[in-house]
Amino acid sequence: MFSFDPYSPAVDADPFPYYKRLRDEFPCFWSREAGMWVLTRYADVVSALGNWQTYSSAKGNLMTELPNRAGATLGTTDPPRHDRLRGLIQHAFMKRNLESLADPIRDIAKASVAEIAGEKTFDFIEDFSAKFTVRVLFAALGLPMGDEATVREKAVLMVQSDPHSRAKGPEHIAAYNWMQDYAAGVIAERRKNPLNDLISHFSQAEIDGDKLDEREVLLTTTTLIMAGVESLGGFMSMFALNLADHHDVRRAVVADPSLVPDAIEESLRYNTSAQRFRRCLTTDTELHGQTMREGDFVCLAYGAANRDERQFPNPDFYDLKRKPKGHLGFGGSVHACLGTAVARMSVKIAMEEFHKLVPDYVRVQEQLPWMPSSTFRSPLRLDLAVQ
Ligand code: HEM
Repeated sequence: MFSFDPYSPAVDADPFPYYKRLRDEFPCFWSREAGMWVLTRYADVVSALGNWQTYSSAKGNLMTELPNRAGATLGTTDPPRHDRLRGLIQHAFMKRNLESLADPIRDIAKASVAEIAGEKTFDFIEDFSAKFTVRVLFAALGLPMGDEATVREKAVLMVQSDPHSRAKGPEHIAAYNWMQDYAAGVIAERRKNPLNDLISHFSQAEIDGDKLDEREVLLTTTTLIMAGVESLGGFMSMFALNLADHHDVRRAVVADPSLVPDAIEESLRYNTSAQRFRRCLTTDTELHGQTMREGDFVCLAYGAANRDERQFPNPDFYDLKRKPKGHLGFGGSVHACLGTAVARMSVKIAMEEFHKLVPDYVRVQEQLPWMPSSTFRSPLRLDLAVQ
């Protein structure tokens, strides 16, 4: 009998054959192991995203949710509360003009690449992308330098889940608690001594007299750190993996760096880190002959929808010329990722600098050690050999 367990190492290693069967044979599937419905067709996922009144985020959006987050962050509220939060945070983002980050990000990329100069083999994640992403995040959010390694370690743990208990384990919860204490310390400090950084801006953000409350400031900061470190770092390693495995694409982007943005968009569709998010039904809903009940959880499998041949012809082909309109690598509708511009810019600059030093590389490991996470998919280690 067919089953789909987003906690299983087999799904971590290769979810795509499962996704295909789900799309073709079980487009509205009850996963006993996950305790939720799974939607995999592009049209169904897009329609659910647009219908946030029925597919609510207010009970959490991570497949395995962290305690206390539901109802307090951008990703875990519905409009109108969500729109109010998003407006306040976007306002703070706008003050920290993105263009002003381009030069510091380029400097961080150059310094991070310099640390692998001369190496014949290295771990792309530990030796390069982890250092780069955490430094970028610290610059963007205005976090005090010095704690980068611990912040990254805790952010990576926060998004993991225990494949045996199919829940967050004590180490994941402890990492989340550590991050909240850390964020609380930074917020208190910025309130005393405000700087021109994101946390200072949004802890004081105000639209027509409306401010964020304490819990919203704390959990949103915690979420931004998690999203910044793990979403950006996870995607960078998937992008490098896709380039290492597709020599023609890699050679094309090295020869003409103006193609890097196209390669990024196709990676966000073809094989990306943010695979599956969760919603909760506010009313009984019929789909493909199944009756889903009010209160049931539903998994929106973005990674599966991005491979739906009903939307993307020849979907298993990593096609540099595709320019995939409407891919769900950043989600969509009211909850579309808030960090898209900074993420696109950071990855582009990082890979441009990386390719200047390492234009040709192959992956060393045949089997990759995948991060145990029901939401994200990325390797824990990615060894590359310079050619
Ligand atoms: C390439 C890197 C990234 C990817 C692939 C990514 C992906 C996503 C996805 C798929 C969602 C939708 C979640 C849902 O449907 O429930 C999302 C939401 C979000 N992302 Fe990202 N993200 C990235 C980088 C970032 C960065 C760098 C930040 C901030 C510094 C960020 C902040 C957020 C926030 C705040 C939300 C919630 C938005 C809302 O609910 O209104 N992301 N992201």
